[in-house]
Amino acid sequence: MTKSLYLAAGCFWGAEHFFKQIEGITFTEVGFANGNTANPTYKEVYTDTTGFAETVHIEYDPLKVSILFLLEMYFKAIDPTSLNKQGEDEGTRYRTGIYYADPTDLPFIQYALAEESKKYGLPLVVEVLPLSNFYRAEDYHQDYLNVNPDGYCHLPIELFEYARKAKDEATVQKSQRYALAAKQLKSIAEGESDAIALMANTAALLHETFQWWWTGFYRVVDSELILGPFQGPVACMHIAFGKGVCGTAWQEGRTLIVPDVEEFPGHIACSAASRSEIVVPIMRQGKMVAELDVDSQHLATFDHCDQYWLEQIFAE
Ligand code: SME
Repeated sequence: MTKSLYLAAGCFWGAEHFFKQIEGITFTEVGFANGNTANPTYKEVYTDTTGFAETVHIEYDPLKVSILFLLEMYFKAIDPTSLNKQGEDEGTRYRTGIYYADPTDLPFIQYALAEESKKYGLPLVVEVLPLSNFYRAEDYHQDYLNVNPDGYCHLPIELFEYARKAKDEATVQKSQRYALAAKQLKSIAEGESDAIALMANTAALLHETFQWWWTGFYRVVDSELILGPFQGPVACMHIAFGKGVCGTAWQEGRTLIVPDVEEFPGHIACSAASRSEIVVPIMRQGKMVAELDVDSQHLATFDHCDQYWLEQIFAE
């Protein structure tokens, strides 16, 4: 599984070198994002009239590094309060920006930005937009600091050392736990055809493994969701199509990850202690028959690593 993100962090020579060091990033290239012309050259972008930002396209393995970890690293490499200027480099082409190709990344970006802004008394000026275009820069810009170790760089050398050592242990560990849980669930399910018994033991095993706040199932019954086997506090018993996180996941037919439930319009608060949530539709013969719903007492507990494994576990 690979995900991508486009990060503008000032001069892309240093920025690419920084991201290259981080474990879990599988590919980087530099280019120009979100501008107004087609196939721009470096020279054209340098005039600062094309609207493009120098940007690093990164690809990463979400089972090794989470989007929030990457964004934390990103913030270490920029001054998010500085408009159109990073280090000595000035101009709109050096603006900071997070451009996403996958709209489901937006809640994570908003969460990371809100967390980061708590550290400053000033508003942050990092642009957050869908990626509208990206053009790879000329070859001599790629891997610039590897090819030219004494080349210009606006970032301090210690930052590269820091990035080399940084490891998203929590995500690596989480993925290993899921791998084990998936195996255990497979053996539990062997030869068992009773859906309630399977849901009950699945909720118990996942809940115990990850110590979540609430882990359980909603079943599709006629035209609504009805509470199924679960572990955790008392929960609402009926949820309508399109309502709350569960009803929206049903309506949209996809997994929903909510880093901060207060930011989700219409979230149904069965428990005031729940702060983040993931809902995974369970499909059988092409139809949604139930959902796994998990709540955490902590913000931003779930990410693409959880999505990957839970979708695997409940695949048809
Ligand atoms: N929060 C869910 C309701 C179910 S409880 O979390 C167990 C929702 O908004 O759909």
